[in-house]
Amino acid sequence: MPTELIRDPREWQRRCAAERAGGRRLALVPTMGFLHDGHLSLMREARRLAGPDGLALATIFVNPAQFGPAEDLGRYPRDLEGDLAKCERAGIDRVLAPERADQVYAREHETWIAVERLSRGLCGERRPGHFRGVATVVAKLFNLTRPHVALFGEKDWQQLQVIRAMVRDLDFGVEVVGMPIVREADGLALSSRNAYLSPDERRRAGVLSRALFDAQRRAAAGERDAAALAAGAARAVEGAGARLDYAEIVDPATLERVAIAAPGSRMLIAAVFGATRLIDNVALP
Ligand code: PAJ
Repeated sequence: MPTELIRDPREWQRRCAAERAGGRRLALVPTMGFLHDGHLSLMREARRLAGPDGLALATIFVNPAQFGPAEDLGRYPRDLEGDLAKCERAGIDRVLAPERADQVYAREHETWIAVERLSRGLCGERRPGHFRGVATVVAKLFNLTRPHVALFGEKDWQQLQVIRAMVRDLDFGVEVVGMPIVREADGLALSSRNAYLSPDERRRAGVLSRALFDAQRRAAAGERDAAALAAGAARAVEGAGARLDYAEIVDPATLERVAIAAPGSRMLIAAVFGATRLIDNVALP
């Protein structure tokens, strides 16, 4: 079946409501488009979780509310035609891709969701307002779709925790599924923003995952001092000529910094290569 494209959020809402009322299981993958294999792994799993009689749904919307004034909203990569072909191959039944932001946000929009503590550190510190924009658009997409299950990537670990907290705190009744990070052959986590990298930056960006895997190995070999592990990763990233935003080891759910790396502690890194900010993370053994 070809993937159906819907432009109008109201029409999307009507259709999803009728199908849910008719007993169909709805699985949702929210994205900003320019799809890669990371997105597609979420979509294939959505297809599976929806079941043979359910619907696998995706949204493609570059959400202005999560971009800061100096960020890349205007030049964020787009390819709707290519994206729809990929959605179809991944088994997505229907895509919502609004043409304009004012179809999603009323001109008078003034209601925002702040997941307060989880949004504060890490990416939230460098991108003020970012997670408020993410939480608000995801809440809107949940209300437009009312999915039974929604899938998000572990690549954006802080985002995943913010969404889990929002669903818990505001009783959304949506099952949130986190999906493993899909990587290039050299370990670089797939990201729509990788398209910005020059060949030289792309080569150097491999240091992010190498630094994380190296910390994993050191932790497995008995190094438990979180500060020492984080400092090693920071040195490696800076040694590759990137500007480090942060390298931290945190509790995976609360995102509070830990002193001793315990099994399941998460190491998160953000660094800027040229003009492109990349993030990555791993679980420590
Ligand atoms: P976007 O960056 O397009 O990512 C959409 C989903 O794909 C997110 O859940 C993200 O974590 C996941 N993803 C991205 N790269 C991945 C990779 N290499 N492996 C596995 N999953 C990956 O995240 C957003 O859009 C937006 O913030 C959104 C949630 C759609 C709200 O606007």
